[in-house]
Amino acid sequence: MRYFIITYGCQMNKSDSERLSSFLKDNGLSVASSIKEADLILVNICSVRQKAVDRAEAKIKEIKKLKKTICLTGCLLDKDRKRFEKIVDFIFKIKDVSDLHKVIKKKKKIIPDYFKIKPDQSNFIPIMTGCNNFCTYCVVPYTRGREISRKPEEIIKEAEYLIKKGAKIIWLLGQNVNSYEHNFPELLKKVYQLPGKFWLQFISSHPKDFSEELIKAMKRCRINYLNLPVQSGDDEILKKMNRPYNIKSYKEKIKKIKKEIPGIALSTDIIVGFPGEKRKHFENTKKLFKEIGYDMAYINKYSPREGTEANLLKDTVSPKEKKKRERELTAILAETALKNNKKYLGKTIEVLVIEKNIAVTKSNKKIKINPSEIGHFKKIKVTKACSWGLSSL
Ligand code: SAH
Ligand code: SF4
Ligand code: F3S
Repeated sequence: MRYFIITYGCQMNKSDSERLSSFLKDNGLSVASSIKEADLILVNICSVRQKAVDRAEAKIKEIKKLKKTICLTGCLLDKDRKRFEKIVDFIFKIKDVSDLHKVIKKKKKIIPDYFKIKPDQSNFIPIMTGCNNFCTYCVVPYTRGREISRKPEEIIKEAEYLIKKGAKIIWLLGQNVNSYEHNFPELLKKVYQLPGKFWLQFISSHPKDFSEELIKAMKRCRINYLNLPVQSGDDEILKKMNRPYNIKSYKEKIKKIKKEIPGIALSTDIIVGFPGEKRKHFENTKKLFKEIGYDMAYINKYSPREGTEANLLKDTVSPKEKKKRERELTAILAETALKNNKKYLGKTIEVLVIEKNIAVTKSNKKIKINPSEIGHFKKIKVTKACSWGLSSL
């Protein structure tokens, strides 16, 4: 039996798909190179925006015509369940992956070693799942439930195994890694101290929990990339979003991190067009973008989600205006990212080859390279810089 996994959403879902794939291989299935060649299709869905749900639904309907067995997992809202039940063969929770034995026709229910994954050059290790923050726009606390942290010993053992097997980048993952209940800065340091050559990264962190201790740990662990989602550059909107920090404190944290780790690449997540976001609020987000000078930003147009608090507010910003605000921010980002990338020009830096012609820097930037062996570190000279990447050709 051959399977094919289609993944929507964030790194958490990508990580779950990697683990699902390992589970299926351990049960004697093999991965198909395309949907057409697969007997079993697994769709790992994201519900964060309506568009993501609609895309998954359209894809499933298209696959259905091929008469394949389709299983659905991931972040699914109760309100969508009935709709999906009609078009897929089986819905399962990722933590109950062993229920799949019904579909893969194993007589015995195989208990998965859920946290076992196949080593790759870049590996995700979930350290916690779920979220307790209830930002007013967000479904994640409903789809993933409350925060559950894994034990440090388990995470360290897994990292050790992956590094031994050749992992070159270890990504510690969580909806909010710094609310990790067993001391995140300590965990970072412990993983960093493991023997072997590898880079350490983490994603994502919440500004409210971003501590000085963590900045120190990042410096010690030679971390050179940080995603610190701000969501809006306006205090009034942040309050309505239930994001418990203000722009002044956010900027202070960024200032400290830039001082401790000069040249650190910064990224953020933004929502444009939150209910009640007027021009004057949005102008504050633009101002923040210019001041911080991000390397990367995930700019999302607000999408009302049933069951969330913000859904009770009127979606006041038109789709056209949301698009316009997205474009305006992207234009600022293109300038700041280019300015940051130009600093690499003429420098010889260490990169990790992730595809034959593409490598990644420690600051998480893509760089074009001459054909090289995948999974190797290499020193190269940067010859070109643009907004969305570098080149050594
Ligand atoms: N835990 C992370 C983000 C996880 S969700 C954090 O707090 O930063 C990933 C991103 O999706 C969020 O950062 C947000 O920008 C976006 N998002 C979440 N709900 C959304 C909604 N209803 N409409 C548009 N974007 C949304
Ligand atoms: Fe969603 Fe907020 Fe939790 Fe992030 S912190 S997952 S945006 S509720
Ligand atoms: Fe991620 Fe989407 Fe779930 S953003 S946590 S896959 S709802």
